[in-house]
Amino acid sequence: MISTIKRIGQNIIGAMSPNDYPKLIKLGAIDRPNYGYIVYQAADLARRLGLARISVLEFGVAGGRGLLNLEYHAARVGAITGVTIDVYGFDTGEGLPPPIDYRDLPYIWQANHFRMDQAALKAKLTRAKLVLGLAADTVKTFCAEFNPAPIGAISFDLDYYSSTVDAFKIFDVAPEYRLPRIFTYLDDNYSSDLGHVGPGVGVPLAVNEFNAADASRHLGALTHLEFEYRPARRWHRQIYSFADFRHPQADTYILSGDRQLAI
Ligand SMILES: C[S@@+](CC[C@H](N)C(=O)[O-])C[C@H]1O[C@@H](n2cnc3c(N)ncnc32)[C@H](O)[C@@H]1O
Repeated sequence: MISTIKRIGQNIIGAMSPNDYPKLIKLGAIDRPNYGYIVYQAADLARRLGLARISVLEFGVAGGRGLLNLEYHAARVGAITGVTIDVYGFDTGEGLPPPIDYRDLPYIWQANHFRMDQAALKAKLTRAKLVLGLAADTVKTFCAEFNPAPIGAISFDLDYYSSTVDAFKIFDVAPEYRLPRIFTYLDDNYSSDLGHVGPGVGVPLAVNEFNAADASRHLGALTHLEFEYRPARRWHRQIYSFADFRHPQADTYILSGDRQLAI
């Protein structure tokens, strides 16, 4: 039974053009489809806005498996869309800082968890640049130091409430450094058997505070994913859009033609 299902799956995938990236992502037939989704969608939005180059970011790199995967998607999506995609990985380089209080869930996360082997990772990276230091500091100097192409996608995987609050300051960079809508993946807005992430702690608290602070921009879940993407996966509920309603390109029309629904 399982082998039949596998064979059918392989036939479907085999019949598809390797460039049919949206379909591969939709089927989850690719490593870390969540990363593929935000990278592809960001490149597609950039193309519709007439931009040739974007940046994608990962906050929380640790050993670097996620960053290497982001490089992979950036290369594939770049080749398909023609948009050049730069990759940046933010991390202390030394693992988690100390938790500030209960909101960081210290009963599951502690200082120095997830240390990076910087030399080993640098030797493997092909296009990603590491931005090392506390997120609270590096987000402030990022644009001056790197002059990045507009940010189109971000994965937030910093575990803590406090670190996520610091990293969300990336949304304060000048509008020329970001698309009007940024596709984000929030790794830690989910609970586990032992880690009880919820409204008053962790990433959900950081999101709620962010949204309460300023009505002209928000982080909102892309609610169509869990209904339109099959089979159901947890990441479908972890994709959020950062939308800035005052961005100069916020209202730029991105579809084509005159839309009518004839009787
Ligand atoms: C769970 S790991 C990331 C895993 C990685 N995204 C992956 O997919 O393999 C969390 C990382 O966040 C980093 N981190 C947490 N708080 C930080 C902060 N305030 N500034 C910079 N890095 C931080 C830690 O150093 C740690 O490596």
